Amino acid sequence: MSSETTGFTIWFTGLSGSGKSTISEILEPELRERGHKVEVLDGDVVRTNLSKGLGFSKEDRDTNIRRIGWVCQVLTRNDVVAIAAAISPYREVRDEIRDMIGRFVEVYVEAPISVLAERDVKGLYKKALAGEITGFTGVSDPYEPPVNPEVTCYSDGRETPQESAQRVLAKLEELGYLRPA
Ligand code: ADX
Repeated sequence: MSSETTGFTIWFTGLSGSGKSTISEILEPELRERGHKVEVLDGDVVRTNLSKGLGFSKEDRDTNIRRIGWVCQVLTRNDVVAIAAAISPYREVRDEIRDMIGRFVEVYVEAPISVLAERDVKGLYKKALAGEITGFTGVSDPYEPPVNPEVTCYSDGRETPQESAQRVLAKLEELGYLRPA
């Protein structure tokens, strides 16, 4: 039996609608094809079960992120690739989870508010900008970008989600988490 450790966590962070889920969904089958077990923890989905009842105060967001982080840790130590896709706006909690997991690759999905508000996939920016939703990340609530993410994806039109996913895979190979295809 091989004792090789194969689990790791890919942690997406970025504003709502920046493309975290889209890039995750491209990565998931790619990683499976390379023989990995993969589990995606998407903020929107987690909030309907594991984090049901939590709101968007700093305290509730931190609780949400710590829960996702804990699940990622459990999966990672069981040789699963865990992919987290939640806004995770606070740097300190992200770094706490990085330290806890160790095998952790942070991917910042960057896009300016102007582009996201224009795209407005869920219609939430319109409401947030009109003041109908308060405490909306990037509009009326903080977002702290990572200082040293392993990868930054540019989802402002400079690259497609497909290209972003390929760059994440290339970085995973470079870091030794993935064997070259
Ligand atoms: S996090 O801050 O705790 O990481 P998470 O990723 O789980 O957030 O959930 C974000 C999603 O919740 C957004 O994509 C959006 O659909 C929805 N949402 C509802 N209210 C807010 C808000 N005030 N700020 C940000 N997202 C919100």
